[in-house]
Amino acid sequence: MNFTHSIKIAPSILSADYASLRDEAERVRLAGADLLHVDVMDGHFVPNITLGAPVVKCLRGRVSLPFDVHLMISDPLKYIPDFVNAGADIITVHVESGSTAECIALMKELGVTPAVALKPATPAEAVFPYLNELGMVLVMTVEPGFGGQSFMHDQLEKIRLIRRRMDEVKPAFDLEVDGGITAETAPLALAAGANVLVAGSAVFGKPDRKTAIAALRGEI
Ligand code: DX5
Ligand code: ZN
Repeated sequence: MNFTHSIKIAPSILSADYASLRDEAERVRLAGADLLHVDVMDGHFVPNITLGAPVVKCLRGRVSLPFDVHLMISDPLKYIPDFVNAGADIITVHVESGSTAECIALMKELGVTPAVALKPATPAEAVFPYLNELGMVLVMTVEPGFGGQSFMHDQLEKIRLIRRRMDEVKPAFDLEVDGGITAETAPLALAAGANVLVAGSAVFGKPDRKTAIAALRGEI
């Protein structure tokens, strides 16, 4: 298959050993990761709590990968400055959290790459008004909240629709998929137009992270 957009692998530390986060991040960097995906959950927008800006700040000082911070929280506008100060490179807010235009404006003002995520039930069109302002769109291929769930094949059409629209307005756009990405599902997401693959269990759940990342890239 011939993909026009470069493939980036973003291991999600949701599936890492939280007692050794720096070492876990360093291992995936050495294994060929392009980004570090950091899942922030507030127990309100999603039924789970993970970590906040102080953890991102400590890690950021000791890990030299770009930080891709996925905010699954109810009031992202309030917390964006904390995550920018903590060193986030890309911040993704959910369109379902509301205040999307304000969040994007704030992220741009603070100099961080703005991205918007869609839950599985949210249609592709919900992100169209913002495409010109964004550096990336994230299509959730599971219900957000937990790692280790199965890929939702019915999201492939949404990925196709968004990529088609992006090609019209902004060809060099990153389209990220998150949830249930494995060596089996990655080629489906890539063929539909995604180019940034988040993977929690398919990387941190494997003893050999280099092989796991190469498998996601389709190299082995
Ligand atoms: C789920 C998170 C994902 C999660 C993916 O809400 O946004 O980033 O870590 O985990 P896997 O790859 O195991 O489905
Ligand atoms: Zn995520």
